[in-house]
Amino acid sequence: MPGFLDDIAPLKTAALAEFSAATDLPGLEQARINFLGSNGRFTALMKQLSALPKEEKPAAGKAINTAKLELEAALTSRRSELELQAALPKEPIDFTLPGRRRVLGKLHPLTQVTEDIIRSFRKIGFVVADGPEMEDEYHCFDALNTPADHPARDAQDTFYLAPAAAGEKPSTLLRTHTSSVQIRVMKSQPPPVRIIVPGRVYRRDNADATHNPTFHQVEGLYVDRNVTVGDLKGTVEFVFRELMGPETRIRFRPHYFSYTEPSFEIDFSSALTRKMGKEWLEIAGCGMVHPQVFENVGYDPEVWTGWAFGFGIERIAMIRYGINDIRLFYENDLRFLRQF
Ligand code: DAH
Repeated sequence: MPGFLDDIAPLKTAALAEFSAATDLPGLEQARINFLGSNGRFTALMKQLSALPKEEKPAAGKAINTAKLELEAALTSRRSELELQAALPKEPIDFTLPGRRRVLGKLHPLTQVTEDIIRSFRKIGFVVADGPEMEDEYHCFDALNTPADHPARDAQDTFYLAPAAAGEKPSTLLRTHTSSVQIRVMKSQPPPVRIIVPGRVYRRDNADATHNPTFHQVEGLYVDRNVTVGDLKGTVEFVFRELMGPETRIRFRPHYFSYTEPSFEIDFSSALTRKMGKEWLEIAGCGMVHPQVFENVGYDPEVWTGWAFGFGIERIAMIRYGINDIRLFYENDLRFLRQF
């Protein structure tokens, strides 16, 4: 077969041309199959080797193997060229352009204020306690020495949930204050107690600039032996100075709450209140835990004494940031929220 050796070079040239003409990886694979696949043209030529006369075989075998190695090398280098091409961006990129910054979310201003309040109380040994927003009358009112005819229990003030059966008196409600958690904690552990209770509360108020049907409170409760109003005042002063600045002053005014005796309202005065055109601003309610409340939870009022307070978180946040409408907190308008 005199043609064998002469066929190698043109076939090799044709294969090399086709390899370098391939513009992508699938195209190159097709070209490989055309020549080196089991039915490829180059493979077919190799198969003719065995039919050659014995004395021609060594030279022919050497020639065709050299050609095959050359084709394989060409294939490999074209493949890596095409792989690189495929990995490169299709359009030119300006690597000097500034990157796209990911927008980081932040904590809601009410959450920030709540965390600040918690942080201050933690410094003096208080822990956070929690309780249900769907409460019963017992924990929300009765156990807090708030009798059935107390105005806070009026359907005007409180969201009662539908009774289990028709005609039955509703007894489940949305808690009107976080004071209910006082009862739950005292019933679940012996004294001493040192807790604060941040949480959501509900009132049947119409929304306006200073009211919203749901808002947030922090309740505090301290029970130990020989606790005094002095402890209460010192604690409140410490926390409000942390929250509202070191020159903050506080004062107690006598008041009435059914679960404390004596009871007080707390006013505070600082650069912030003066900015609002007032020397004193009412901020919280508090008092010494009523002996009846201790009786209700099974603490001996002859042994144990304590104080409690409660205040609204929105109000603190509004004063602190100079916000004049409580509804802004609930609208989730990013232009508002981004400012904190
Ligand atoms: N529960 C009261 C309210 O919602 C706040 C309050 C006042 C809590 C006096 C107390 C307290 O623990 O002693 O307005």
